[in-house]
This record gives sequence, structure tokens and C-alpha cells, in this order.
Amino acid sequence: MLGTLSADELAVTDRDIVGARGLPSRYYSEPRAVAYGRDQVLATSGMCIGFASDVARQQAVPVEVIDLPLLLTTDAHGELRVFHNVCRHRGHVLVAKPGRITGAIRCP
Ligand code: FES
Repeated sequence: MLGTLSADELAVTDRDIVGARGLPSRYYSEPRAVAYGRDQVLATSGMCIGFASDVARQQAVPVEVIDLPLLLTTDAHGELRVFHNVCRHRGHVLVAKPGRITGAIRCP
């Protein structure tokens, strides 16, 4: 059980940099805490998942971000795009390895 922070656990995070400590390790490893961070923090804000320079024109690069399979790609005009890398039918991974995309992406 994750529980809430005790007053002592919270107080040590609010000291000056020399004496401060991070949150208890359970806040980085408990599945419930990881799911909370993914759904309530990361999914509701922006984050860096790669660099545009790593995705050449019409290339697709699969990445996994906090258990979410994503696909970085660029279109024919060089515009960077990010998609869920699964099909809507059964959640099959669409692109397993980085490579060139020609035409529509289809479920294998
Ligand atoms: S498994 Fe049916 S479209 Fe992907």
C-alpha cells in the first residue's frame, strides 16, 4: 500500500539542498505510484520522448514511454508526428523496429 506521506517524510523534502532528501522509494517503485505519475502527471503535461533530429523524413521510430508504445515519425513534408503504436482492433504493435515508412501504416 502506497499510503500518504507522513509529516516527517514530507519535512525532509523541504530542507535546504544539503539536508533535503527525496520522497520515499515506494513513490518511485510501487505500481500504484507509477500509474498515478503516468496518468495524473505525465499524461496531462508535455514531456520529451525523443529528438526530431533522430527521425529522418518518412522514418518511423518506435519508442516506449512509461509502458505506452508510441511511434515517432515524420510525414512527407518533414512534419514530426507521434502516434500510439498499436492497432485499434487488438492492440497489436504496428511498427516493431525503426525504418522507412512508405504509404499507410498497417497492422502486421
Ligand atoms: S489485430 Fe486486427 S487490425 Fe491489428
